[in-house]
Amino acid sequence: MSLALHGQFLSIERELNQSHLERPDVVRSLLVALLARQHVILLGPPGTGKSRLVRDLCQRIVGRFFEWQLTRMSTPEEIFGPISLQGLQQDRYRRIATGKLPEAEIAYLDETFKASSAILNTLLAAMNERIFFNDGQAIPMPLEMLVGASNELPEDREELGALWDRFLIRHVVDYVKDPASFAALLQAPAHPAAQTTITLSDLKAAQQAVETVDVLGVLPLLGQLRTELAKLGVIASDRRWRQSVGIVQANAWMNGHTVADAGDVTILQHVLWDEPDQRLAVAKAVLTLISPFDQEAQDILDDAKDVYIKAVGAPPDAENDAHQYEAILQASQLLNTAGKRLGAIAKKAREAGKSTAQIRENMAQVQAWHHDIMVNHLGMKEEIEV
Ligand SMILES: Nc1ncnc2c1ncn2[C@@H]1O[C@H](COP(=O)(O)OP(=O)(O)OP(=O)(O)O)[C@@H](O)[C@H]1O
Ligand SMILES: [Mg+2]
Repeated sequence: MSLALHGQFLSIERELNQSHLERPDVVRSLLVALLARQHVILLGPPGTGKSRLVRDLCQRIVGRFFEWQLTRMSTPEEIFGPISLQGLQQDRYRRIATGKLPEAEIAYLDETFKASSAILNTLLAAMNERIFFNDGQAIPMPLEMLVGASNELPEDREELGALWDRFLIRHVVDYVKDPASFAALLQAPAHPAAQTTITLSDLKAAQQAVETVDVLGVLPLLGQLRTELAKLGVIASDRRWRQSVGIVQANAWMNGHTVADAGDVTILQHVLWDEPDQRLAVAKAVLTLISPFDQEAQDILDDAKDVYIKAVGAPPDAENDAHQYEAILQASQLLNTAGKRLGAIAKKAREAGKSTAQIRENMAQVQAWHHDIMVNHLGMKEEIEV
């Protein structure tokens, strides 16, 4: 593994996480998709930073970037280029694809599911086969990754199902939740200073390295996962399972592994769901199978987050000061307990010879919330012991 190359990818990940709040999984997925030559769909309401995140990533990849916002009226010319008039005079139906999708290494299609049937078939071939038919000639496309964005899922799965299936990694993004991230969002610089860039040949070299990551050891886990998900009625196509292997390899590479381990498989929680309401169940099944201790720690973190946000986000209640004080005090006690429970899980994980990194990360987060409540909301000054 080239340390310099790996370091560049990690720098880009760090930079993107600095300016995009509460998006660590999406940032990781975009990099993994780039490394595995796959496509990502971002579903979410307007103003969740989808476009900016993709642009910020593309700025760091030296290559051709094509971005377009589709409408129901969009024509193939907008995406694949206009028909050559000169060609028409010679009875040829040739598109001039300069600056359009057929020549792009990375593409971002906003409102992807508005694609009309005139665009759809060409798009499907572009995404799967990376081939563009121009005047009957099959032209190979340099497309590394296509990112789609949409405010909603396609309703007409009949027509758009094939497009949906081609987005291997799927994320639903929402407005930031944590008040601290919200405060950081308001202050985030419009143009962050640090910008690591990678060239296309760097990307190719990294993709080759990714292909050599040994995944044999985790393949049985994928089989078990398939069985577990089938019990929940979640069925992914065989194409998606096959392509998942590349995603695990890329995630392992990002994690600095030459041999993939179970933790590297957790990214598949963003691959294996089909309907948004399956997301939680799929994530739970993946984590429970792969790292039961992490799953338990995640549940505690989720509950603690609710407690914290509710406590610090409540509007001041002048009428009932005592009541509010009590609510905050109770939140502080709950967070204290959550911290202790995480400590106990870390101990169990350690005794079982499992990694405690994620659990300790969750514990640090819960302690930070507890500390914030004690110092900033209950006015305690001394060091807090949790
Ligand atoms: N999680 C976030 N972290 C940092 N900035 C954010 C975040 N969410 C939104 N923003 C801010 O909101 C701005 C607008 O976001 P952007 O236009 O990328 O949203 P969008 O999701 O693409 O919206 P639309 O669906 O309307 O296209 C960004 O430039 C950024 O300043
Ligand atoms: Mg947008």
